[in-house]
Amino acid sequence: MLLAILSKLADGKFHSGEQLAQELNVSRARIWQAMGDLRILGLEIAAVTGRGYKIFEKLELLDLNRIMAALPESIQVKLPTPLIYLETTSTNSVLLEGLRKREVKSGTVCLAEFQSQGRGRLGRQWASPLGNIYCSMAWQFQHSAAGLMGLSLVMGLAVVAALKKSGARDMGLKWPNDIYHHGKKLGGILVEIAGDALGPCDVVIGVGINVLLPRNVIIDQAYTDLSQVLPQKISRNLLLSNLIASLYEYLTLFNQKGLSYFLPQWDEYDILHHQAVHIIEEHRTLSGVVVGVDAQGQLRVNVAGVEHVLTSARASVRLV
Ligand code: BTN
Repeated sequence: MLLAILSKLADGKFHSGEQLAQELNVSRARIWQAMGDLRILGLEIAAVTGRGYKIFEKLELLDLNRIMAALPESIQVKLPTPLIYLETTSTNSVLLEGLRKREVKSGTVCLAEFQSQGRGRLGRQWASPLGNIYCSMAWQFQHSAAGLMGLSLVMGLAVVAALKKSGARDMGLKWPNDIYHHGKKLGGILVEIAGDALGPCDVVIGVGINVLLPRNVIIDQAYTDLSQVLPQKISRNLLLSNLIASLYEYLTLFNQKGLSYFLPQWDEYDILHHQAVHIIEEHRTLSGVVVGVDAQGQLRVNVAGVEHVLTSARASVRLV
């Protein structure tokens, strides 16, 4: 029902409650209620007496056929059928659960228009209103979780490559894997391990990219979205094809070559390089200057002449 109404509103034109009720064969009260539900999902809907309902910006809904058609054939043939939801808790949680139940194969992608419990790093919430990118991919590695430290960094590079292919310029990465544009956060990545961290392990890589955030969204740091970064409006489906292809390619390469192969590329985008930072950990805050990343992908920070090495699991880094 919500999807049916959303598909009607997606054209950005006015639709009267009466006409919608007739077309969908439901009462006008039901339409009114559905508009409330869509607003809760983060959609900004104008209601004008005598004209009806309309969204502020045209919305391109997720379309599996378009996403698949734009993938390179070499990936199309290997990719398990993606899972697409109008609404789910978290695309990462869906895949983690599927892996636990052995229902999800390596390479499976999960997409959603909206997440009710979007998750970020360090137990934070990820605001997930309609109209942005929420994409996760499951991947099976033959080596143990210890070899996966650098994966977060490489996934950041994969996202930047997809954004560049979609026309974005001046992209930056903030260790371990935040996507930045001119000092503001454009997206983030959450890498989670399913199952046995000691043996061959399953991983879920979740990517959130802000495409067009509603004005009333609450985010506790400087942020931006693609509507401000790109000169023209982007097709979300095309961006997703670029993203899925890029994740797939970088995961395959990381499996074969490891982090060292990607480190020169990391240096190109690293916005923390030689910058003064505060490192916030659970029980302490350190201040120092970033030296770079080491061969394992850990952050090297010079604190009063002593080098500290930080793993991504616990630390949060703020530029001074
Ligand atoms: C961060 O910067 O803290 C990481 C954000 C990761 C958000 C994505 S959105 C798709 C996937 N599902 C989630 O619940 N989280 C990730």
